[in-house]
Amino acid sequence: PSNLRMEGRCSSLMGANCRAKGGAPGFKVAILGAAGGIGQPLAMLIKMNPLVSVLHLYDVVNTPGVTADISHMDTGAVVRGFLGQQQLEDALIGMDLVIIPAGVPRKPGMTRDDLFNINAGIVKTLCEAIAKCCPKAIVNVISNPVNSTVPIAAEVFKRAGTYDPKILLGVTMLDVVRANTFVAEVLGLDPRDVDVPVVGGHAGVTILPLLSQVKPPCAFTPKEVDYLTNRIQNGGTEVVEAKAGAGSATLSMAYAAVKFADACLRGLRGDAGIIQCAYVGSQVIELPFFASKVRLGRNGIEEIFPLGPLNEYERDGLEKAKKELAESIQKGISFVRK
Ligand code: NAI
Repeated sequence: PSNLRMEGRCSSLMGANCRAKGGAPGFKVAILGAAGGIGQPLAMLIKMNPLVSVLHLYDVVNTPGVTADISHMDTGAVVRGFLGQQQLEDALIGMDLVIIPAGVPRKPGMTRDDLFNINAGIVKTLCEAIAKCCPKAIVNVISNPVNSTVPIAAEVFKRAGTYDPKILLGVTMLDVVRANTFVAEVLGLDPRDVDVPVVGGHAGVTILPLLSQVKPPCAFTPKEVDYLTNRIQNGGTEVVEAKAGAGSATLSMAYAAVKFADACLRGLRGDAGIIQCAYVGSQVIELPFFASKVRLGRNGIEEIFPLGPLNEYERDGLEKAKKELAESIQKGISFVRK
């Protein structure tokens, strides 16, 4: 309605057709794949984040409906929807943070690597547009296989001459969220009081919970270590099997993604002591990409922490993780270079 007067800001569908004077001060965030199982609850949670002033929702299907729905929430962020490849660049211009949950999820019996053939191309195309339209934005990659899609993103950015390893982060937060939950269950603690570092990557044996470094300090029996390590490594498969063909984790993932995005934004704002695990370009071990604790700040990743002391069980796990990670990284790099 062109004659509708809006006070201060407007939530519009598919670009503004009413008078917007700009939102409250805050960060501009785009979600690519916003109409999906993760995208929709993630959009809702980001709309609730007071650090966000503008939220762009991009997908190849259904963004008008999702945008209309989310835009009625009476929170600060202005929401705009973008549909299809021809609107991708408009979705990205001016963004501070881009979150990518676009792509197909697993069905029972599939590994994350089985998604490579479809998702690699999707992530490559999206990152080409990011390099062109918002090369300084922080990028959070959720699309699986994360162990390969982050190297793909890095290669695309290198080719475009925009690669900055400080602002490209693979989201492994769900592994940490699961680890905190499962460890709290075993210890009989509130999960909010538990902090489990999870390093390595985001698939099967590459997911390495460091149970010897749990806070608060605690001891586990060998049986508990086995149970917890297996459950954390296979938490995603637990959900895939329970959903029986209807997809993989979406709600817990949206929660984890917004927890991670919020940490990135608080870092950008200049808050001190923001530390999270993420899968990043790294020199912590000999592999070029590795998940470990990072400190987030105004420039993205300000510091990558060393692994700290590992026990024998964890050292063995690390050796197994390295082999698979090296292959997944190479597969991602070759996909862009071929
Ligand atoms: P979904 O199929 O429900 O949603 C994916 C969305 O991506 C759909 O709306 C689809 O239209 C959209 N899409 C497809 N091609 C696109 C393109 N070229 N540009 C923009 N959007 C496009 O899948 P779901 O459950 O939301 O999962 C998304 C991805 O997240 C999967 O790859 C899944 O494996 C991954 N995932 C990652 C986790 C992590 O811890 N990093 C945890 C759970 C899932």
